[in-house]
Amino acid sequence: MTALVCFVLLLSLVSGSHAWRCQEGPTLNRATQIDASKGQVFASNVYNQNFFLNGVYWTYLHGPQRMKHITTGDTGTWGVSTKNQLYKMIGGNFTRVPGLSLSQVDAGGDGFLVGSTGSRAYCLRTAYARVFKGAGSVSWSVLSSYSLKYYSCGLYGCWGVDTIGRVFHTRSVNPNSCSQTGWQVVSSGSLKMKMVEAASNGLVFGLSTDGKVYLRAGVNAGRTHGTFWSNIPMGVAMRHLSYDLGRLWVVSNAGNIMFCMH
Ligand SMILES: *[C@@H]1O[C@H](CO)[C@@H](O)[C@H](O)[C@H]1NC(C)=O
Repeated sequence: MTALVCFVLLLSLVSGSHAWRCQEGPTLNRATQIDASKGQVFASNVYNQNFFLNGVYWTYLHGPQRMKHITTGDTGTWGVSTKNQLYKMIGGNFTRVPGLSLSQVDAGGDGFLVGSTGSRAYCLRTAYARVFKGAGSVSWSVLSSYSLKYYSCGLYGCWGVDTIGRVFHTRSVNPNSCSQTGWQVVSSGSLKMKMVEAASNGLVFGLSTDGKVYLRAGVNAGRTHGTFWSNIPMGVAMRHLSYDLGRLWVVSNAGNIMFCMH
């Protein structure tokens, strides 16, 4: 066990009954991004190489395309390349999806895909997201007029982070039309987020611009935006996170992958 993991374990032990215990994940050199959904875990590294977790090894995804960001979920596995082009995994190949230039996508929504151009958020409805199989083009709907750079959808709607770190939430998005309930500001104080990830079981995690991890407390069907951000001590600064089936996956600024359970 490394000193880092000991430190993290110690911190999680002293932080009370909702302690998360973290352990080192399978080693991936200089990881930058991670996405877990439906039992599968994908990751990218600084070389924009892409992998999926296969037991205790990361299996390299072969092919000419290199993704800086991968997402997997209800509508399949999607990636955004270093040139901000969108790809969908079809028959084991990342296949180009003509249309918008995107810097980030999220497949967490039930039946739809969302993405950000870096300053504006878009939604791809079921008829395109689930059905696209390599031919033709797709048509995106504007999801929000806020300047949102990071988007994620889960059980209770979608969450966005704007270019100055404020967090926004919408209770639901209709997968067939991409129409949505209104957006509300969830937090806009001194706590600035770099990303928020909403999981399929309703849990919502935030990662602040200074690399701290938060769980959104009080999220339920009646109060889908929750109550406050509760810090999960990690010991080191994180750069990305994702949650699925009881495992919170985190990537440290140094590029190490850990997963935490409670
Ligand atoms: C994947 O891409 C390769 C290279 O273009 C191609 O030869 C192969 O047929 C593709 N596989 C499928 C299942 O479409």
